[in-house]
Amino acid sequence: MGRKVTIEPVTRIEGHARVTIYLDDEGDVEHAYFNVDQFRGFERFSQGRMFFEMPAITPRICGICPVSHHLASAKACDQIAGVEPPRPANLLRELMHMGQMIQSHSMHFFHLASPDLVLGFDADPAIRNVVGIINAAPELALKAVKLRQYGQEIIRTLSGRRIHPKFAVPGGVNKALSEADRDTMLAPIDDMISYMQEGLAIAKGWLEANQELVLKFANFRSGYMGLVDPKTGALELYDGEVRLVDRDGDLLEQYDGRNYLDYIAEHVEDWSYLKFPYYKKLGWPDGVYRVAPLGRLNVADCISTPLANEEFKKFKAISDGPVEPSLYMHYARLIEDIYAAEHARELLEDPDIVSTEIVNESRTITGEGVGTIEAPRGTLFHHYKTDENGQLTDVNLIVATGHNNWAMSTAVDMVAKEFIDGKNMTEGQLNRVEAAIRAYDPCLSCSTHAIGQMPIVVEVRGPDGELVKRIQRD
Ligand code: MG
Ligand code: NI
Repeated sequence: MGRKVTIEPVTRIEGHARVTIYLDDEGDVEHAYFNVDQFRGFERFSQGRMFFEMPAITPRICGICPVSHHLASAKACDQIAGVEPPRPANLLRELMHMGQMIQSHSMHFFHLASPDLVLGFDADPAIRNVVGIINAAPELALKAVKLRQYGQEIIRTLSGRRIHPKFAVPGGVNKALSEADRDTMLAPIDDMISYMQEGLAIAKGWLEANQELVLKFANFRSGYMGLVDPKTGALELYDGEVRLVDRDGDLLEQYDGRNYLDYIAEHVEDWSYLKFPYYKKLGWPDGVYRVAPLGRLNVADCISTPLANEEFKKFKAISDGPVEPSLYMHYARLIEDIYAAEHARELLEDPDIVSTEIVNESRTITGEGVGTIEAPRGTLFHHYKTDENGQLTDVNLIVATGHNNWAMSTAVDMVAKEFIDGKNMTEGQLNRVEAAIRAYDPCLSCSTHAIGQMPIVVEVRGPDGELVKRIQRD
């Protein structure tokens, strides 16, 4: 019998999860598991409510990506109400979504990912965090704060709230944008882009300087999934069609998110509470795929904004097929960050953005809607069914982190086997396992559908199940 190693909570990721590492008698890693405590309360709790309450309720699922839930929910509600929002409302919703992307992606890179890159996987954990970054690179830390504030400010300006927005309603939004507020949001964009470019240069430089490690670090094949513009194949975050490609990057499917159940099924493993979505036609496990920045850039043909597209071309040149190593997530995430800022500018410069035609009235109840959006962490589906009065009878959510469950489980196992030496275990080795999860930026409060944020733990267990090592940082 082998020993067992558990990592819980994994630090610097959002939510609650456990990594369990089993060691054999020789002290080598036998297998490592990534577990998330499942809590499905939310889907059940929503039943019986009126559908139009959902855009205000669902942001409570998560303090990290409330806007993604808010907007996916509103899109589902548009369909239930049988109404298309007017163009200005769609521009405003998309602008809010760009604010969420900028806030989330910037915070992830600078606060959660950069300590490993700038300070090192083996740095003292007491300083290997955002405080360490503030001490080592105070100007960079200040820029990170400004980026996060900028994204939050877009959300706050549009909805009047920084965290749980009440803005999108079935058929549109409930508040027009003033010209003064538009100008305030436009002014800092060039600075924001330059900060993101600085982050991207750090990520690229680090990946280049550490190629040997990067290629050994959770580098594996999978399919990929993300939204694209149906006409151009460009990266899409707010709307579009869902594209699935295989391990070679060849097209498998491109579909309307409303039909997600025709393409995606969820596999259950007895060691995990969180399900494993996969592409139905290839079956489990051949149909596994990855989402989020790496997934999206691996399915897209181009990016519609100039600076991000220049970076996208360099990214594509890394490999003939899909870019596979997990640590390239950081690179892809920062390209998307630049796109979000450039696209926010396009939206703000559109004359319709200050139009007061922001909502269309509905007079019907269709009884069903599926809202599909690219949350910062990947494709998010909100699927609602109602009775003829609009009272919810069925709610299904497939969240971004769920799609990457297989990828994170695989990454944890590979990194544990590659880097952990059970006879000479160091904190830095276990931190590499956590970094494999962090690359995917999971949002565990989302995936568990639990309300609020929870932490993660890492544990190592010996041949008789005895605890060898345990990490639980704040
Ligand atoms: Mg679900
Ligand atoms: Ni979330």
